[in-house]
Amino acid sequence: MRGPAVSARGTSFPLHRPETYLLSGGVPDTRLIPNAMIARAYRRALCSSTSTGSLDYGDPRGTPRLRAAVAEMLRATRGISTHPANVMITRGSQMALDLIARALVRSGDAAAVEKIGYRPAWDALRAAGAELVPIGVDEKGLAVEELASRARAKGRPAGEPIRCIYTTPHHQYPTTVLLAPARRIALLELAARERLAIIEDDYDHEFHYEGRPVAPLASHDPAGSVVYVGTFSKILAPGLRLGFVVAAERVIEALSALRFVVDRQGDHVLENAVAELVEEGELQRHARKMRRVYKARRDALAASLEHQLKGVLKFQVPAGGMTLWASVDDRIPLEAWRARAREKGVMFSTGREFDIEGKARPFVRLAFAPYDESELGRAVQRMRAALDGI
Ligand SMILES: Cc1ncc(COP(=O)(O)O)c(C=O)c1O
Repeated sequence: MRGPAVSARGTSFPLHRPETYLLSGGVPDTRLIPNAMIARAYRRALCSSTSTGSLDYGDPRGTPRLRAAVAEMLRATRGISTHPANVMITRGSQMALDLIARALVRSGDAAAVEKIGYRPAWDALRAAGAELVPIGVDEKGLAVEELASRARAKGRPAGEPIRCIYTTPHHQYPTTVLLAPARRIALLELAARERLAIIEDDYDHEFHYEGRPVAPLASHDPAGSVVYVGTFSKILAPGLRLGFVVAAERVIEALSALRFVVDRQGDHVLENAVAELVEEGELQRHARKMRRVYKARRDALAASLEHQLKGVLKFQVPAGGMTLWASVDDRIPLEAWRARAREKGVMFSTGREFDIEGKARPFVRLAFAPYDESELGRAVQRMRAALDGI
């Protein structure tokens, strides 16, 4: 067995420690990536490069074919009616977040973020010179009222208006809770009123297991406040480094100019290969298959935890996402448990990693996507065994 990935501060990198179960990332099962399907499409894209120009210099916004395919995919599956001119292809959402931060933020601007959230996005905003304004998260998602009061008060002693909010409304990172409908409306209204940009990171849209996925904020945004970010990392493969942004054309132009300086353009052969997978419905078929696989894994993990760690962990079975967020009984010394579990061959994340101030929080986050049901059962047994003697 391979080691899929380990998450350190939200970043994933390969780890070849077959004996360790890595429940700390949020990655797909890399064993189930449809390599042959991608290889066939890539070969076709490469062989047609003379007519498509995909091995030449091209558009920093991405190939017209993939931008059109993404626009159509978002219309058909996410209710976002957009146009290829509003779509830019990036190397993963991380490049998108970096470009967006640099385009939107001037040094010293305030940028709101979820108080427990996604560190790589905070890092991108900070690198662009933003001062982060942490906003609370509860069982209904982002505390939009709190954001409203900060924004109305012009935020902070320095009196700067809050320029943007980075948020994960579909499956809040890391808790996976869905932003409540009333809060969605309030957030869009607030953004329109205060001229606040919403950076909506919809990183694992397809992996929603109870009913249909909820339409993104970007699907109902008459004021044009939302800069929408998506990725092929979860639905296909993180190593392909393909993501996308949907935004007003002038924003796309600004992102494209910034991208040109560092990266000129993406891998246009790969972009055309993935466009073919989208056009032919292969990507959505793969997503449907993986949704079934991950749902069964989610249920298996929840059942194992109920059985082996009853009274230690409390959780709601997540309606979506690739991880389970659980609170830990306050009598358990969490960091000691985590260290002992690591020795026993299972790694998981604790609440502290996701807190903007690095404060201890009595929670664990457990990834269920990368392992099958019996592997998850063994991982939970190790977590249980690690409790003895701490
Ligand atoms: C909140 C969030 N956004 C985006 C991503 C995907 O990042 P990328 O597209 O750069 O691989 C992840 C992956 O872990 C994530 O957790």
